[in-house]
Amino acid sequence: MKPYGVYEQLEPPEEPPAPTPPGRFTPKPSRGALLSAVLVTLIFLFFIHFFHLCSSSALRRGGGGNGDGPCADPCRIVLVESIPEGMSYEGAGNPSTFDAWLNLVGSARRSLDVAAFYWTMTNEDTQTQEPSASQGERILEELLKLPARGVSVRVAVNSPSSKFPLSDLQALERSGAAVRTVDMPRLTRGVLHTKFWIVDGAHLYIGSANMDWRSLTQVKELGTAVYNCSCLARDLAKVFEAYWLLGLPNASIPTPWPVSFSTSFNMETPLELNLNDTPAAVYFSSAPPPLCAPGRTEDLRALLSVIDAAEEFVHVAVMSYLPTMEFSYPKRFWPAIDNRLRKAIFERRVKVRLLVGCWPHSKAEMFPFLKSLAAVGDNRTRYSVEVRLFMVPSSAAQARIPYARVNHNKYMVTEKAAYIGTSNWSGDYFVQTAGSALVVNQTQSGAGATVPGQLRAVFERDWSSPYSADIGDTGRWERLCGSR
Ligand SMILES: *[C@@H]1O[C@H](CO)[C@@H](O)[C@H](O)[C@H]1NC(C)=O
Ligand SMILES: *[C@@H]1O[C@H](CO)[C@@H](O)[C@H](O)[C@H]1NC(C)=O
Ligand SMILES: *[C@@H]1O[C@H](CO)[C@@H](O)[C@H](O)[C@H]1NC(C)=O
Ligand SMILES: *[C@@H]1O[C@H](CO)[C@@H](O)[C@H](O)[C@H]1NC(C)=O
Ligand SMILES: *[C@@H]1O[C@H](CO)[C@@H](O)[C@H](O)[C@H]1NC(C)=O
Repeated sequence: MKPYGVYEQLEPPEEPPAPTPPGRFTPKPSRGALLSAVLVTLIFLFFIHFFHLCSSSALRRGGGGNGDGPCADPCRIVLVESIPEGMSYEGAGNPSTFDAWLNLVGSARRSLDVAAFYWTMTNEDTQTQEPSASQGERILEELLKLPARGVSVRVAVNSPSSKFPLSDLQALERSGAAVRTVDMPRLTRGVLHTKFWIVDGAHLYIGSANMDWRSLTQVKELGTAVYNCSCLARDLAKVFEAYWLLGLPNASIPTPWPVSFSTSFNMETPLELNLNDTPAAVYFSSAPPPLCAPGRTEDLRALLSVIDAAEEFVHVAVMSYLPTMEFSYPKRFWPAIDNRLRKAIFERRVKVRLLVGCWPHSKAEMFPFLKSLAAVGDNRTRYSVEVRLFMVPSSAAQARIPYARVNHNKYMVTEKAAYIGTSNWSGDYFVQTAGSALVVNQTQSGAGATVPGQLRAVFERDWSSPYSADIGDTGRWERLCGSR
């Protein structure tokens, strides 16, 4: 293995042009000079006033960090999904993750940045001849062509462990891509679990799909692609630059983060823009807290605030849900999210639905906690909460593909907002692991469906599909999931 992380010049996101401080004006005591002095003073005062207006309106619109006012980009947002082979749904679905990635690679002219947990885009890892790996192999092939086309490719990846093969990363480096490994275990005792792409500072993907061939054809994934939206892409680039900095040898987490990493788009002052010609307020959250530069909303706060703002319903689709720290010892109870759901159910009578991934690797302790949450729902008090498990069906051959055939979705939708994340819902992911989410608040119904409206449709399709079973319906799921 070639050592990754050769030092390269860090390119911080664009900085606002600093207004040059005017020198002191000292007029000479002649008449002509006096006149021009008055003129220059007037012009100077005009400029001071102008700068003041600019900066205050930029701040008002949450654009203070970029100093470029409102977002006029013609942003297009598309929900993209991977539906595992062999599953069938009624009606047309969303575009595939594969198509979105192919579009993104195809549109790259200058740069492509990818943050990922690990890379297994060819099925070399399983030592099988799995035809469904061809989509992943195609994406890798296209990515490897980019440096020769003059596109600068940067890949930030969690420090590879012996569990994951290195061949994709080595191929990327040979193609001319820059690869840095982020030693999250050393930095925060977590991993880099984020999955996003940024293309030409204008387009992006964020969602549950790993850089894994299975994420295109064998694992159920949900994410979003945003095109022609430099306001959003430039903000996500600040999160990428943070990973990139931490990928330097022996890097440490800066405290505080330099100003170039800070953002003014957050929970309090989201970026206001049109998404598919419909007004929306959006921001990216990030985890864990030490990786949040000033202004960046922590992922857990973002998630809780979406739950807290709901007045009608909260629908959650997530692979694993545990009110504990999942991977740390000694074992710790971590009820931050579970408490807020119960509070919403009890205090505001919000209707909560939780759709959780079920596969042979599901942790046994997940089920009693899910049953406990479901037990709050009661016909006599009318607390409304339902929990279902989602099972991706497998043929005998499909069942032999390791770590596949699961609902890997990580999103939430309410009547007000969509939260599209990269983390499982247990403590480690918010306290130690690097992850991020896109929060879209879009209440007004304009032309076309809103992002929360489209996400709700995805949720309802899955919820009422033959692949989901109530947590009380043990006969249907106990054989299929849970390490017991
Ligand atoms: C992005 O903008 C370009 C140029 O205006 C346009 O050709 C392209 O179709 C747009 N992409 C999307 C997905 O809307
Ligand atoms: C990183 O730390 C190790 C161990 O402390 C040291 O051997 C190595 O020289 C350091 N590398 C750099 C680039 O500072
Ligand atoms: C979305 O925006 C509306 C209006 O600006 C606000 O009342 C609401 O709290 C926001 N919702 C979320 C989830 O942030
Ligand atoms: C999410 O949780 C499951 C179950 O604990 C785990 O196997 C998986 O690695 C976690 N992370 C990912 C890849 O989403
Ligand atoms: C609640 O009511 C529904 C519909 O009347 C019924 O199917 C269900 O069994 C009831 N649940 C409990 C826990 O009594």
